[in-house]
Amino acid sequence: MRLILLGAPGAGKGTQAQFICERFGIPQISTGDMLRTAVKEGSDLGLKVKEIMNGGGLVSDDIIIALVKERIGQPDCANGFLFDGFPRTIPQADAMKEAGVKLDHVVEIAVDDEEIVKRLAGRRVHPDSGRVYHLEYHPPREEGKDDVTGETLIQREDDRESTVRNRLSVYHDQTEPLIAYYREWAEQAPGEAPAYHRIAGIGTVDDIKRQVIEALEG
Ligand code: AP5
Ligand code: ZN
Repeated sequence: MRLILLGAPGAGKGTQAQFICERFGIPQISTGDMLRTAVKEGSDLGLKVKEIMNGGGLVSDDIIIALVKERIGQPDCANGFLFDGFPRTIPQADAMKEAGVKLDHVVEIAVDDEEIVKRLAGRRVHPDSGRVYHLEYHPPREEGKDDVTGETLIQREDDRESTVRNRLSVYHDQTEPLIAYYREWAEQAPGEAPAYHRIAGIGTVDDIKRQVIEALEG
């Protein structure tokens, strides 16, 4: 299975990606996680993208497209993969079309801006694995510690409120047009285009998980 999880920052893409990837035995390709790893390692790529990410802007399409093409060529992607946070612009989506990457599903998780601000303010992450928690909605078993490794959870640099507002505005400008892009493609070429599913992202993590799995298996 090859699918895209589409949605605003904080919509719950990373949270749901974990469940979907486990269920279908496919790798999660999160461009955000890949870039954060590069920043942490201080690689050339990391140095190039650090300031952009901390300000909530988008990294250039050229860099992202090259990164993703390289990643999907690796052996663990042979049976499918899940894109989390990619594509994020029309040129990124077009690049996949032009490369002949066949996708089965696009799942949009729809959440309004007010809810997103609340979610991102309370988010805590395990930096090495990308596992996501929320102080109130999805707390770890032990306060401040990752459930699997017991290591310390951190707050993401770009989850400050002013940066969150910028990320939301970038989302509305650059990424939201992908909703119409994939919806229209699915209507016009149902066999060739990925099937489009819209899930209302308000409800518990488990509620949403059920709806996503149902959309993919139903
Ligand atoms: P990226 O890492 O992709 O960030 P994002 O899209 O802003 O999304 P988030 O990771 O913030 O949110 P999410 O939807 O995964 O939500 P989560 O599950 O964590 O990108 C970061 C940066 O990298 C970008 O700003 C850009 O600079 C760069 N970048 C990445 N990809 C790029 C690309 N393709 N092109 C260009 N630049 C790129 O959940 C959020 C919180 O809510 C958590 O605390 C969670 O526990 C909680 N939560 C989840 N579900 C629920 C629920 N149902 N109810 C209550 N709380 C919930
Ligand atoms: Zn994420």
